[in-house]
Amino acid sequence: MRDKAPETFAERLAQLEELRYEAIHAGTAAAVEKQHAKGRYTARERVDKLLDPGSFQELDAFVRHRTTAFKMERNRPYGDAVVTGHGTIDGRRVCVFSQDFTVFGGSLGEVMSEKMCKIMDLAAKIGCPVIGINDSGGARIQEGVVSLGAYGDVFLRNVRCSGVIPQISLIMGPCAGGAVYSPAITDFIFMVRETSHMFITGPEVIKTVTGEEVGFEELGGAMSHSSKSGVAHFACEDEDSCLEDARYLLSFLPANNLEMPPRVAPADDPLRAAPELDAIVPDSPNKPYDMREVIHRVVDDGEFFEVHEHYARNIVCGFSRLDGFAVGVVGNQPAQMAGVLDIDSSEKAARFIRFCDAFNVPIVTFCDVPGFLPGTTQEWGGIIRHGAKLLYAYAEATVPKITVITRKSYGGAYDVMGSKHLAADMNFAWPTAEVAVMGPEGAVNIIYRRDIAASPTPDSRRAKLIDDYKAHFANPYAAAERGYIDEVIIPHETRPKLVTALHTLQTKRQPGPKRKHGNIPL
Ligand code: HXC
Repeated sequence: MRDKAPETFAERLAQLEELRYEAIHAGTAAAVEKQHAKGRYTARERVDKLLDPGSFQELDAFVRHRTTAFKMERNRPYGDAVVTGHGTIDGRRVCVFSQDFTVFGGSLGEVMSEKMCKIMDLAAKIGCPVIGINDSGGARIQEGVVSLGAYGDVFLRNVRCSGVIPQISLIMGPCAGGAVYSPAITDFIFMVRETSHMFITGPEVIKTVTGEEVGFEELGGAMSHSSKSGVAHFACEDEDSCLEDARYLLSFLPANNLEMPPRVAPADDPLRAAPELDAIVPDSPNKPYDMREVIHRVVDDGEFFEVHEHYARNIVCGFSRLDGFAVGVVGNQPAQMAGVLDIDSSEKAARFIRFCDAFNVPIVTFCDVPGFLPGTTQEWGGIIRHGAKLLYAYAEATVPKITVITRKSYGGAYDVMGSKHLAADMNFAWPTAEVAVMGPEGAVNIIYRRDIAASPTPDSRRAKLIDDYKAHFANPYAAAERGYIDEVIIPHETRPKLVTALHTLQTKRQPGPKRKHGNIPL
């Protein structure tokens, strides 16, 4: 900054322009070049690409750190290591922070945290989503414990904003150590393949402590976190597609928990029949089919934005629309592990359902589930506790809940997957549905064990008993007789039935008892 105080208005304007220039160029040209060479955009480039052109309103561009340790007072770039402000996406207001790796490696200290907290507080006050772009070397080493406290201030806001405004994290560089816990608390994490990494401890520390040798990408890259750990919901090819996908996700979401998701003018006929559905379930109960095919044929224009596409693929979750209304779709996936429920799929769907419920997105469930996965790995891993989360999430959700049983719905999994008993509002079944305590083979082997053993022809006796069981139980009618199923529908009618149910449920109100919060088995 110039030494001589400006005197005229023109000089004052020139000073402002200089300061603005300095703030925009806080990172050195060399640091920017290094950033680009790694295939990454700068913090400002990302904000510009994320928001509607020209909509970004920057705040706190002149904030500077106050640290003096390690001679830090000699380097006080304007804006510090984060760009913050608000703008619009498809004309709807959002708040943004974008960590700037070209300044102190995007490391977080006191004032950077203050800027992030301020923009999060604004988002909470006005009720709009907050999008955090993470690209940081973690706690600013020169600020010591202050930077740890600064992280804590961000975490607290993440928690307080949870369920109030959508929080979305885009990981576009390193995100390591305790720093990962801010994105981890947010609703959705996007990562970029090859250029973004998340881990609690990096490859060097791991090698020292456990002797394991692992690279950055394998340890904490986009595919590891979107397929193995489930930490990331989306793994994007590059930064452009990541920013585009984040914009797309927001199109399904309301600005806050007091608003409804925006309704998009529907182009697809709400009463459209889907004749292909009549042939989609194979005659053999052990043959798979792809539940995404069912979803595509039912929802508006076949549009389905899958969440956690690569993780726990035995269940599919994602956003779609029905007659222009946003819905969260959950479907067992017979094409993966026969659609069985296990620890990972229970957690995946439970978290998705809780998000939808918090933000007024109705839940549509397609059920084809043979039960919970047996085995010691599952039992000792806590399938009881984790499966209970899914049950809890369905039961707790007060948004409209509509379920379609396409085929199997056995045992505890019948109850869990959006059954009437967990307060689903409209329950449909296809004629191919099999609602029973367990599949025919298992049931017959248990209840007719002695009978089969005593038979001179045990195999044919078993086959006969299985046929009898199928005739009595492997259908939707026992459940329909009790009203557990509201209507048995022909598959091709599914879309009009769901659309009508969704319209009917628009005015649903379900007040709960007063309590601080429930105690979901975490
Ligand atoms: C201060 C940092 C920094 C940090 C990087 N820089 N991390 N400055 N505090 N944590 C600076 C570097 O000194 C360098 O400054 C510039 O940022 C770019 O860093 P490079 O190392 O040149 O970049 P690169 O080679 O791309 O390596 C990136 C990196 C590496 C892998 C992130 O910088 C790194 O390992 N940083 C330390 C990561 C870390 O251990 N952080 C603490 C994690 S624990 P110059 O001036 O040379 O350009 C943590 C706890 C949080 O965060 C707890 C919350 C409760």
